[in-house]
Amino acid sequence: MAHSHFAELLDLDAEVLSDYHRTVFDWVGGVAADRPHVVDLGAGTGVGSLALARALPGATITAVDVDDEMLDHLRRKASAAGLADRIRTVRADLDQPWPDLGPADLVWASASMHHMADPAAALTGAFGLLRPGGLFAVSELTAFPLFLPDGPEADVERRAHQVMAAMRDEAGLHMHEDWAARLKAAGFDPVEERRFDIALEPPLPPAGGRYAQVSLERMRQGLAERLSPADLTTLEQVAASLPDRDDLVVRTHRMVFLAHRP
Ligand SMILES: C[S@@+](CC[C@H](N)C(=O)[O-])C[C@H]1O[C@@H](n2cnc3c(N)ncnc32)[C@H](O)[C@@H]1O
Repeated sequence: MAHSHFAELLDLDAEVLSDYHRTVFDWVGGVAADRPHVVDLGAGTGVGSLALARALPGATITAVDVDDEMLDHLRRKASAAGLADRIRTVRADLDQPWPDLGPADLVWASASMHHMADPAAALTGAFGLLRPGGLFAVSELTAFPLFLPDGPEADVERRAHQVMAAMRDEAGLHMHEDWAARLKAAGFDPVEERRFDIALEPPLPPAGGRYAQVSLERMRQGLAERLSPADLTTLEQVAASLPDRDDLVVRTHRMVFLAHRP
C-alpha cells in the first residue's frame, strides 16, 4: 500500500477517535505552561502538533519527524488551518544525535517512542529538552484497532493481528514496554498514567468505514507472505466490502503518560 495511505491512516485515526483525542489534548493542554514551546517527536501528519497549537493559543510548535513526506503533509495541513506561523518542522532521525530542539515546556510523543531503536536514550533526550517543571506527554499503544463484529470474519481479523504483532516484535518495535517505569528511570517524577479503552459501536462516525478499509487493506498487504490463503482471501473480501458496511465497530486502547521533569 502506498506510503500516503499511512498518512491517511493517521489522519483517519484522529478523526474517528476524536473523543479520545479531545480528552487527551484537553488533559495535556490543561496542565501545560502558558505560551509554551512544544516539541512533537515523531509528529507524523501533525495530529498532535495541530491539536496542541489549537488547544494552546500562545504556543509555538516544533514538529520533528524523519520522514519528509509526513512533514510535507503536516505543513500543508498547518497552512490550511492558518497555523503555519506557529508550527515549524524539523527533519531529524531521532535514533541519531538530536539537533538542538529545545528548550521546551511540553514534549509530545504519540505512537513514536515504540519506533525508537533505543527508547531509554529517547526518553533521556526528551528529559534534556525540557525546562525544569516541563511536561513530557507520551501516548502509546500495544495493539491496533479491531473493526469487525463478532463472528468468523472477526476471528480472521484477530489471527491477522496476532501475526502482525509477532512481525512487529521481530522488527524490533518496542510495543510491550513499561513506559511508566522507563520514564521514571529517565528522571521524570511524578509520572501519571491513564488507560483509554475505546469501544465505538455502530453507526461509526462517517470516516469509520474508510478507517477500517485502509487499516485492513494495509494489514492484508503486510501479511501476504505470512497468513493462510483462506484468511488473506477473507481479508480481501472484507476490505472490498468497505467502507459501506454499517455493522463495524472500533475496539482499541491507548495509554497516555504525563511525566514531569522535576
Ligand atoms: C505511528 S506514527 C505517529 C505519528 C503521530 N505522532 C500521530 O500520533 O499521529 C510514527 C511516526 O514516527 C516517525 N518516526 C519513526 N522513527 C523515527 C525516527 N527514528 N526519528 C524520527 N521520527 C521517527 C515516523 O516517520 C512516523 O511519522
